[in-house]
Amino acid sequence: MGPSAGKPVNIRNATVADLLKYEILILGTPTYGDGQLPGLSTGNATASWEEFLPTLVGQDFTGKKVAIYGLGNQKSYPIEFVDALYYLYDAFEQCGATMIGDWDTTGYNFEKSKALLANRFVGLALDQESQKELTPARLETWLKMLAEAWG
Ligand SMILES: Cc1cc2nc3c(=O)[nH]c(=O)nc-3n(C[C@H](O)[C@H](O)[C@H](O)COP(=O)(O)O)c2cc1C
Repeated sequence: MGPSAGKPVNIRNATVADLLKYEILILGTPTYGDGQLPGLSTGNATASWEEFLPTLVGQDFTGKKVAIYGLGNQKSYPIEFVDALYYLYDAFEQCGATMIGDWDTTGYNFEKSKALLANRFVGLALDQESQKELTPARLETWLKMLAEAWG
């Protein structure tokens, strides 16, 4: 079954051609291993973002709007909090996508993250382990921001 609008799809079941069918994409990833994308080298049973991102090289996402979110744990991993978000950002930005949905760091408690640009997260950071209770409001605010950004 291929991806369809409105339904979440595991990236292992998608191809670049599938993503290119859309003008707006919301993409997410947890951070695994040592500040890494999920994939075979972080112990995933199946392929994931680690294997998908190399297939993006040289693809043209010009004019596409891409928003990203990341799952992480700032308490257990305070020096690599949601690092994998950075790799998604970098890969799609290099393909010419217009990246939307950057996010304020207020309210988080971590030391370091690769996922920062000008002191803001490059996408929504969610922590289902040490700040689970903040997730619904963060999501609601972020989705409203996105709706404005894509007009
Ligand atoms: C082995 C392992 C390594 C992790 N490494 C990181 C990390 O480097 N940075 C981070 O922010 N979170 C890290 N986490 C936390 C996960 O990102 C967090 O548990 C996330 O909610 C997992 O999402 P999932 O259940 O959708 O896979 C790690 C978790 C595990 C189990």
